[in-house]
Amino acid sequence: MALQVVKTPADMLKLSKQWTRDGKSIGFVPTMGALHAGHVSLIERARKENDAVAVSIYVNPTQFGPGEDFSKYPRTFDEDRKLCEAAGADAIFAPDTLYGKDPRIFVDVGELGDVLCGMSRPGHFRGVATVVTKLLSIVRPDRAYFGKKDAQQLLVIEQLVKDLDLGCEIVPCPIVREPDGLAMSSRNRYLSPSERKQALCLQKALKYCETKVAAGERDAMKLMGEMAEILQKEPDVEMDYIALVDAHTLVDLKRLRGNVLVAIAAKVGSTRLIDNTSFKNLS
Ligand code: PAJ
Repeated sequence: MALQVVKTPADMLKLSKQWTRDGKSIGFVPTMGALHAGHVSLIERARKENDAVAVSIYVNPTQFGPGEDFSKYPRTFDEDRKLCEAAGADAIFAPDTLYGKDPRIFVDVGELGDVLCGMSRPGHFRGVATVVTKLLSIVRPDRAYFGKKDAQQLLVIEQLVKDLDLGCEIVPCPIVREPDGLAMSSRNRYLSPSERKQALCLQKALKYCETKVAAGERDAMKLMGEMAEILQKEPDVEMDYIALVDAHTLVDLKRLRGNVLVAIAAKVGSTRLIDNTSFKNLS
């Protein structure tokens, strides 16, 4: 199938219904564009597991706060299109807008949206959950692919699909990293060469945590303090949070036990980056 670019929700829904009538399973990768190897890994996985693959490219205004980077978010459609084609997508859904003049209904994500990234980005996960609900209603996939890089987003989406019976399987995909360990992100292109070097401290702190946990450390405050010291060594890095939380509830832990998410957010210069690692069945 040649790659199609679909511009309106009505046309995307029509295509999705056609695929379904043809007996095809549908895989879906929602993105905001500025695609990199992390996004490509999701598209390739969707390609392997489904008969038809749609990628959405839409910089969703409702998930950006005032003063965030909505207007300067990189928009690189021509390159994105080539990457989608090479990764085997059948359709790119790239609407100009997904919101009518006066939208009044939004998805309430509850407490999951108030912690970690939700603390410094109020309303962010409400915007994400709303746009993903809209996208899933338009594309109607059997499976949708999300990166573990955005661990809280993944959790919110899993809960969304479960609680609202959206009837699609959510497939979590591993974090893709640069050769030196920096998690790939569309925002990495904002970093100056010096910031790019300093940004490695996020991964360094997570690796430190992994080593300590492997050696038996379970004291969350101690680990948090030591990880914070690693970030504080870099002059242009300002920590937002280091969280050692229950991987399902996102509630802070005193001692690491069970399934644990360790997540970091920090500003490197003016660019906000996130990264995480997780542990299963710690005793
Ligand atoms: P965006 O940041 O473009 O990311 C799209 C998808 O790619 C997300 O599922 C994200 O977790 C995944 N991704 C990004 N970097 C990755 C990496 N280094 N390794 C693996 N996966 C990675 O997330 C969004 O867009 C938006 O919030 C969206 C869900 C599209 C709703 O607007």
